[in-house]
Amino acid sequence: MGEWQKTGWREKPRVQMPDYTDAEALKRVETRLASYPPLVFAGEARRLRASLGQAARGEAFLLQGGDCAESFAEFRADNIRDTFKVLLQMAMVLTYGAKVPVVKVGRMAGQFAKPRSAPTEVKDGLELPSYRGDIINELAFTPEARIPDPEKMMQAYTQAAATLNLLRAFSTGGFADVHRVHAWTLGFTDREEAEKYRDMANRIQDTLDFMAAAGMTAETQHELGTVDFYTSHEALLLEYEEALTRVDSTTGQWIAGSGHMIWIGDRTRQPDGAHVEFCRGVTNPIGLKCGPSTSADDLKVLMAKLNPKNEAGRLTLIARFGAGKVGEHLPRLIRAVREEGAQVLWSCDPMHGNTIKSSSGYKTRPFESVLREVQEFFAIHNAEGTIPGGVHFEMTGQDVTECTGGVRAVSDEDLSDRYHTACDPRLNASQALELAFLVAEELSARRERKAAAAAV
Ligand code: PEP
Ligand code: CO
Repeated sequence: MGEWQKTGWREKPRVQMPDYTDAEALKRVETRLASYPPLVFAGEARRLRASLGQAARGEAFLLQGGDCAESFAEFRADNIRDTFKVLLQMAMVLTYGAKVPVVKVGRMAGQFAKPRSAPTEVKDGLELPSYRGDIINELAFTPEARIPDPEKMMQAYTQAAATLNLLRAFSTGGFADVHRVHAWTLGFTDREEAEKYRDMANRIQDTLDFMAAAGMTAETQHELGTVDFYTSHEALLLEYEEALTRVDSTTGQWIAGSGHMIWIGDRTRQPDGAHVEFCRGVTNPIGLKCGPSTSADDLKVLMAKLNPKNEAGRLTLIARFGAGKVGEHLPRLIRAVREEGAQVLWSCDPMHGNTIKSSSGYKTRPFESVLREVQEFFAIHNAEGTIPGGVHFEMTGQDVTECTGGVRAVSDEDLSDRYHTACDPRLNASQALELAFLVAEELSARRERKAAAAAV
């Protein structure tokens, strides 16, 4: 394969990337970005990798979620705060149920570029290039808006930097202190979910009171007052990724400075393609989406390329088959991993295989299918004796109506009420919490089964 270079992807076939028309403007942006500070540091990515290694062994659990596509228009502190709150709540539910540390990774601070199922979109007889995320072009359906503009990378960088700054402040500045477990509830969370959460929070509060009485307080237990929170996004726009890639002075290795973890999408995972070429050379934890069309042979080649030293925590396989299809695909890929003796973390994305068009015309995801895919994922790992190590999902802290179902029962007709996504339908806060309770149940059932087996 030869020495890896951060520009090496340019020699490989690329898909899902824009053709910028103004080469000089592109070069100017790349040069400027390359001179700017990276957003994350190698030590942080290494720490995340160690935690993901724990998750691969079943000693921790990965919770990865956030927007489908971050948008320039929705960029506000309260949006970031509310998504962060829901992720903290979900993490608390999982930690409480599963009794293992939860590794918290946001689809945030860089999740701007989107692969699309078709290169163009037709409306009222007019055909225009597809919207590819705010870092590339604009959602408005006009010829000008759809022209890819490299300057947008600068705005994405600035937004990512400010988002990360706020997330770092929330993580360590008191907001995420476990003693505030009650304060993360959002006003509009469904009553049933909110009550379930409140019960759990009361029990956590009891434990904290006990610990305080026994002399352990937030001051003596730093871990209770802060959280580790990481960022991630799909490494789709490789000009942006390359420009933020740096050598880590501690190890001399390359690191993508755009986010802690990056992943390769289901449409860009060609073993000889540009995206795999870029990702194989940076030391960040890498996610690889695995869909129904992932062949066992491709997976073997990809694992060898992306994790040649077979290090735990380096590679997360994100299964996204769709409810009803997990049984057909997951066992054959688990077999491929086993045959290679590969170290991977298995995570479940129950969103991207379950997108349908509703009767009212909106793109949606039935919440029952989301839950069912998670259950199938757990059932198969339980049967295979492998480890279900994480979940990956699209959600928002806003009270949207984008996915149908859930305890608040969003119907097809309700979708138009608050359908705000620029791309895929996201879980709202209630649905996200309901998902967390389901995952916690699955994890605690596993724990009980293991304990029972050990007792025999
Ligand atoms: C995504 O995660 O937003 C996405 C496009 O997923 P996939 O590549 O699995 O379709
Ligand atoms: Co999506």
